[in-house]
Amino acid sequence: MTGIKGKVIALTGASSGIGEVTATYLAGRGARLVLGARREDRLNAVVDRITAQGGSAVGVVVDVAHREDLKRLTDTGVDRFGRLDVLVSNAGTMAVSPFDELRQDDWDAMVATHITGLLNGIGAALPIFRRQRSGQFVNVASTAAYVVTSPLAVYAATKTAVKVLTEGLRQESGPDLRVTLVSPGFTDTEGVGKGGSPEAAAALLQQRAEIAMPPSAVASAIGYAIEQPDGVDISEIVVRPTVQA
Ligand SMILES: NC(=O)c1ccc[n+]([C@@H]2O[C@H](COP(=O)([O-])OP(=O)(O)OC[C@H]3O[C@@H](n4cnc5c(N)ncnc54)[C@H](OP(=O)(O)O)[C@@H]3O)[C@@H](O)[C@H]2O)c1
Repeated sequence: MTGIKGKVIALTGASSGIGEVTATYLAGRGARLVLGARREDRLNAVVDRITAQGGSAVGVVVDVAHREDLKRLTDTGVDRFGRLDVLVSNAGTMAVSPFDELRQDDWDAMVATHITGLLNGIGAALPIFRRQRSGQFVNVASTAAYVVTSPLAVYAATKTAVKVLTEGLRQESGPDLRVTLVSPGFTDTEGVGKGGSPEAAAALLQQRAEIAMPPSAVASAIGYAIEQPDGVDISEIVVRPTVQA
């Protein structure tokens, strides 16, 4: 298969930000979408908007930290549309803070969402992709996987894990599967600093106002990786605002 049209794409973190805009972008190009997130009202609003514009989308309330939720998400693709072509693992949390604040629940959430969540997606989609002898993982990391800045160490560590897991998966994926890492820089979304320490959040919000790029920049990078022919793997994309150091 080449292109986006007709592909069945499951996407986590679809209720806002990069995930929401990517879902709309892919729907506009004819993808059939299975969208996951925890906030049902926000998720339903995205599904309704896509459907009203003539697109095809179904929402599944998922917490990516729960293995069975990811299985429900990927199985919905197979049950509703007969197959699954792509899993975009995008769900994430940017509740960053200095270590001394000991915000251990936030540390746990970043590990659960970025690492366990990614592994749950691999566990759910890999058997389907193997059975079909085709499929693509698109994993969203961050430029924080390349450069550690304070107070983003836990976030950076978990996004580095996303990068490492993606490369390992790519090496094991064989000739039938494609594995893509997309690492955005500063992007204008509601998630920037959300839930983090007030000081860290304020600094990130100021940076967002000054340098962030629109989420559509990430959506089109994800679309580019998906639209390549079967035998072509876009392994890694880093997309950042020009003004980001
Ligand atoms: N914005 C940036 O500057 C930036 C830069 C680099 C990388 N990223 C990455 O891009 C991805 C999207 O972030 P964003 O900027 O678009 O922020 P966002 O608007 O806050 O989006 C995050 C999405 O993840 C979902 N989510 C969070 N925890 C979840 C969980 N446990 N289970 C299921 N869904 C969960 C949220 O939905 P619910 O709350 O409804 O579950 C939401 O849809 C994240 O992985 C983030 O780390 C962002």
